[in-house]
Amino acid sequence: MAIVAPSLLSADFAHLARDCRSCLDAGAEFLHFDVMDGHFVPNISFGAPVLSSIAKAVPAFYDVHLMLTDPLDYLPMFLKAGASMITFHLEANSPVEETIDAIHAGGAKAGIVLKPATPAQAAFPWLDKVEMVLVMSVEPGFGGQKFQSGALDKLAAIRQQAVKTGRSELLLEVDGGIDRNTAPLCVKAGASVLVAGSAVFGAADPAAEIAFLRGL
Ligand code: DX5
Ligand code: ZN
Repeated sequence: MAIVAPSLLSADFAHLARDCRSCLDAGAEFLHFDVMDGHFVPNISFGAPVLSSIAKAVPAFYDVHLMLTDPLDYLPMFLKAGASMITFHLEANSPVEETIDAIHAGGAKAGIVLKPATPAQAAFPWLDKVEMVLVMSVEPGFGGQKFQSGALDKLAAIRQQAVKTGRSELLLEVDGGIDRNTAPLCVKAGASVLVAGSAVFGAADPAAEIAFLRGL
């Protein structure tokens, strides 16, 4: 069984709480919250006040994906807003160990994110310090992009290294272009958490998509 994390980037922002509830009712374990600063990625999404409002209205496990140049500087506001897990990019400017420690000190789970061009080996030094590794299967910034199959080898390499180093319980998340066709390949490669934005919210029956992905 995979953990499903619907990406709220593709939800109806006028009805965020409703859409969050529908995902939870359909069995989604995580809600994926994409934060973009218009600098690290060429897009702007939503920030801590929005997270705070929906986390109050809809208690859930909020998986917050920071696409920020300086994630360390912004941790306090997302921790306070109700983030359950915070992931940040290895390609960002913040010192990795300090950022992981600050997330843990704030009471959340921590994860690192790799863009498509970043090799799997970049994650290896951190596998015993984080709860999750997120492999991007598109360039971060926008929903609805095509899955890049280079993510599959990367997932397999990280899963293999995690098992080899006694970290088989590490969560391995994949994000970008995940749907009924690409998700099974990712799970086979070792992914345990599936982010899906357009595949869920663009479907005629979002609950059926979540159920399908969870069954993998
Ligand atoms: C992209 C975001 C993704 C995005 C995924 O930068 O990190 O979470 O919402 O969207 P889909 O599933 O449509 O590719
Ligand atoms: Zn994301």
